Amino acid sequence: MFDKEIDRRGTYCTQWDYVQDRFGEADLLPFTISDMDFAAPECVLNAINERTKHPVWGYSRWNHDDYKDAVTYWFKKRFDAQFDRETLVYGPSVIYIISQLIRQWSAEHQGVVIHTPAYDAFGHMLTGLNRQAVKCELFKSGTKYEKDWQQFEVLLAKPENTILLLCSPHNPTGKVWTREELQRIALLCERHQVAVISDEIHMDISFQPHTPWQGFSTNERWALVSSASKSFNIPALNGAYAFIADTESRERYLVNLKQVDGLSSPPILGVLGLMAAYNDGEQWLDELKDYLLDNHQYVKRTLEHNFPQLSYDIPEATYLAWINLAPLNIDMEELNIRLVKQYKVAIMQGSHYGEQGQSYIRMNLGCSRRKVERGIEALIQAINDLIR
Ligand SMILES: Cc1ncc(COP(=O)(O)O)c(C=O)c1O
Repeated sequence: MFDKEIDRRGTYCTQWDYVQDRFGEADLLPFTISDMDFAAPECVLNAINERTKHPVWGYSRWNHDDYKDAVTYWFKKRFDAQFDRETLVYGPSVIYIISQLIRQWSAEHQGVVIHTPAYDAFGHMLTGLNRQAVKCELFKSGTKYEKDWQQFEVLLAKPENTILLLCSPHNPTGKVWTREELQRIALLCERHQVAVISDEIHMDISFQPHTPWQGFSTNERWALVSSASKSFNIPALNGAYAFIADTESRERYLVNLKQVDGLSSPPILGVLGLMAAYNDGEQWLDELKDYLLDNHQYVKRTLEHNFPQLSYDIPEATYLAWINLAPLNIDMEELNIRLVKQYKVAIMQGSHYGEQGQSYIRMNLGCSRRKVERGIEALIQAINDLIR
């Protein structure tokens, strides 16, 4: 099923049709922003097709049992986690919800702690909100990503840092936070009265057990923000959600959503897509994960065979291959130019995700094996051109 190549060009899709915006050239084979080339699951397509037979497209609602049950059922089924459905809210996107909560839980010029390298939209959002991005570095220890806990606590202890924006699992490293790590984070945040926003949009494509954020302390200022959009490849349908524990924060969020921002009527196809995916998409998701893991294994085998000095550790989560090319000692800018100009391939440069990403590339493997093969062949040739 996932081997089938579907031509996405001409659908106004960012991945293929607008690759020129980031890479300066059109008609490149893209391994860029995180969406996949796969068709959405049959259950989602059926729900959408059924709804499109109805000709009336008036305002719609998310605040009903069917939506809330689908989300809470999913967390119970996949992560054995029980959430209070009354704390669930809808939002148009994960970033919208995070941005609203940051405005609620911090003042201008205050700091939001993030783990770096970081998803580039976090930095842009914090700059736009006039907040400081306070960086806690992740570093590789063996095959795992770790952090300096002492330094982390120093950052949390500064009174101007009022929020931790956790990316769980972490983009771009693919780190899956263990329950013990999450509990330790929670205790430190409680000690220093730091609110926690846990972005779990990558939770479903995890190759290690994922633990949803559930407060883990008496601190009420926390939110788990997520979406079905990454897992089922439906971001064009729009929609995200959050569990916001604190009643006052949740109510303020809803007032802002409706009265300040005018966004409380959700796109109905997004609501139906989520419900179908969470109610009936489990098997598809498991098959997808197997396929993606095979893609990672292919990349590992092939790269390490061609360049024995490289070691590519398959991430604990996500379809994003975060590949360190430092041992090759090549000019990363030159590599990018060669990939784009000569081999017509677009792969994200690690530097987009901060200084620590300088020697990395981030290659999106959410596509057919054949496409991954073409991308990796181009990468190998481009590297060979540079090291010869
Ligand atoms: C960690 C993370 N958060 C949020 C998003 C974007 O989510 P949305 O489009 O719902 O704002 C992405 C997309 O790549 C992501 O990787």
